Amino acid sequence: MSTNSFVFDTLVEGCYQTQWEAPSNIALVKYWGKYGQQLPQNPSISFTLSRCVTTTEVSFSPREDDAEAFDFLFDQKKQPEFHPKIQQFLDRITPYFPALERHHLSISSHNSFPHSSGIASSASAMAALALCIVDFEKQFHSDWTEEVFLQKASFLARLGSGSAARSIEGPLMVWGQSEAFSQSNDHYAIAPSVDWHPVFHDYQDTVLIVDKGQKKVSSTMGHGLMKGHPFATQRFEQAHTHLEQLKTALITGDLERFIDLTEAEALCLHAMMMTSNPRFVLMQPNTMAILQKVGDFRNQTQLPLCFTLDAGANVHLLYPLQYRIPIMDFLQKELINHCQQGQYIEDQVGNGAKKI
Ligand code: DP6
Repeated sequence: MSTNSFVFDTLVEGCYQTQWEAPSNIALVKYWGKYGQQLPQNPSISFTLSRCVTTTEVSFSPREDDAEAFDFLFDQKKQPEFHPKIQQFLDRITPYFPALERHHLSISSHNSFPHSSGIASSASAMAALALCIVDFEKQFHSDWTEEVFLQKASFLARLGSGSAARSIEGPLMVWGQSEAFSQSNDHYAIAPSVDWHPVFHDYQDTVLIVDKGQKKVSSTMGHGLMKGHPFATQRFEQAHTHLEQLKTALITGDLERFIDLTEAEALCLHAMMMTSNPRFVLMQPNTMAILQKVGDFRNQTQLPLCFTLDAGANVHLLYPLQYRIPIMDFLQKELINHCQQGQYIEDQVGNGAKKI
């Protein structure tokens, strides 16, 4: 579908209220590097999560020319620090839904996970807001199929935050053109109609909170570090290859291959940050201690526990549900001391956003 087919100049006005819950996601093959208007330099794939979610309610009403475009509450409180990001999002998406210019949006959001947990909330937040907006737009398009609705939601979410494009459906989402997935493209993410191996249907993601602080490198700055990066070309090619190989592992249930590729991707993401100019080391001593212990535990027990990382110090532990008891036991005995205030969040793979 071309980008132009997402422009609907509906000269409509009206009042509407809607509420959506959108999940966070964790990338297995990482998106790191973008160009143009929020387009990825390489394809990525992620598990959609189920418990870390943002719930957003939006009331739309006709607006006078000089009135504010929106008001925003987070956890029932005014949070002006979020305004620039929301304004930027609305500015970017208005060309694709011009009627927005004639409406005021009253937005109220809540996260199921602590805001100060070091867990990125931009994916679930932008996806939930995009879904509310597309839901409003849908009122004027009785011809829209469910597929068009979800594609446009992912397309708009991407303009808020790249990884948000993948927070619409589940259990696995692919964003960015890849030879391995025929419908894949850079404009919106897809939930490939592939029979993933059952072991991945309820895969666990336990997030160890090593650092609750604000991100040291904003994602936009981080992606910018790939411009002129000495290893950029090789990295983007590697992501394509990893995605093809991971697809096979996800279909066959080859956990050894899954672990190898997932950990390679996490470390490569950090290797890119450590070799950019300026360079950043976002892992902390506790991060390294956890990675070491996870490897030792896997060697000793032969249980398929592995890790992934996002652009920070926290560690995501990934494992099949059936091994939850011995892995939680290991977490309590060996890993919890490496978590800030002993904090961790238990999540698992989910099926995507829901209208409330
Ligand atoms: C390391 O989606 O947060 O989590 O598009 O600038 O909002 P923006 O970036 P963002 O980047 C996420 C990077 C990552 C890897 C991933 O989720 O694929």
